[in-house]
Amino acid sequence: MIIIDSVASLRKQLGDWRMDSVRIVLVPTMGNLHEGHLKLMDEARLHGERVVASIFVNPTQFCEGEDFLGYPRTLEKDTSQLCSRGVDLLFAPSRSELHPQSLLTTVMVPTLSDLLCGEYRPGHFSAVATVVLKLFNMVQPELSVFGEKDFQQLMVIRKMVADLNLPVQIRSVATVREPDGLALSSRNCYLTESERCCAPGLYRALCHAVDSLSKGCSDFGALENQQKKDLRAMGFRPEYFSVRRRSDLEPPHAGDTELVVLAAAWLGSARLIDNKAVSIA
Ligand code: PAJ
Repeated sequence: MIIIDSVASLRKQLGDWRMDSVRIVLVPTMGNLHEGHLKLMDEARLHGERVVASIFVNPTQFCEGEDFLGYPRTLEKDTSQLCSRGVDLLFAPSRSELHPQSLLTTVMVPTLSDLLCGEYRPGHFSAVATVVLKLFNMVQPELSVFGEKDFQQLMVIRKMVADLNLPVQIRSVATVREPDGLALSSRNCYLTESERCCAPGLYRALCHAVDSLSKGCSDFGALENQQKKDLRAMGFRPEYFSVRRRSDLEPPHAGDTELVVLAAAWLGSARLIDNKAVSIA
């Protein structure tokens, strides 16, 4: 696996590959890789001859008081995991390489970025969209792979790609979970032993909600309030627990059948997010 930390060397290597007309697939990450990230690499492998992974803990997408400094950085272990998964190139730029000067230009995907997580993390999705667009411009991949675990992020990126006619295809991969249902996340390492025992409660709450919706429950407000109450009883501090339309994350209207239930909740010092899709008759 080639490891590159400068944009100039990245462009040179990709230019060489492009002369052979190979299909390049990009998987952007912030590192501290787990099986969820590695499934994205496997998916990338299926769709191109060269897989490029990026690792960059993007400072601009962390809001005031968030865990930017403490975010787990495990480059050596990540490198060997990527190697063993057959990734061809790791792009791991420094902060000054990716953001050499303060950014004046940013991408905004309003509305979609302002709901749910966006309400609690102002500016977050704009910073994500901006860094992903920069990575797309640096790598110019034919295809890029993202996880459904970050459902709202996936939708923001899809919308940016569609609105700006970016020549990249987006593919998504289903959330990879622990056997007890907890979605794999780099932030799970913040959980204490007892919080870790409690953590699958978030996915259980989503499953309960999906079950009720499948059985015909249409009082979304009552359902959301009940699940938030149950989460609080388990020790979570929920930010939101919301039934939304899958197409645009707006509250469902009568007759909408393709829904997704999304939740964000704090457990100790870890902010957990998860979601589950449901189609109702
Ligand atoms: P990060 O949190 O490192 O996630 C990188 C990619 O892995 C994202 O597409 C995310 O949805 C996916 N992922 C994380 N956990 C997963 C799981 N349990 N199952 C499946 N996929 C999972 O998301 C980011 O980084 C950043 O915001 C980034 C897009 C790199 C921009 O900085």
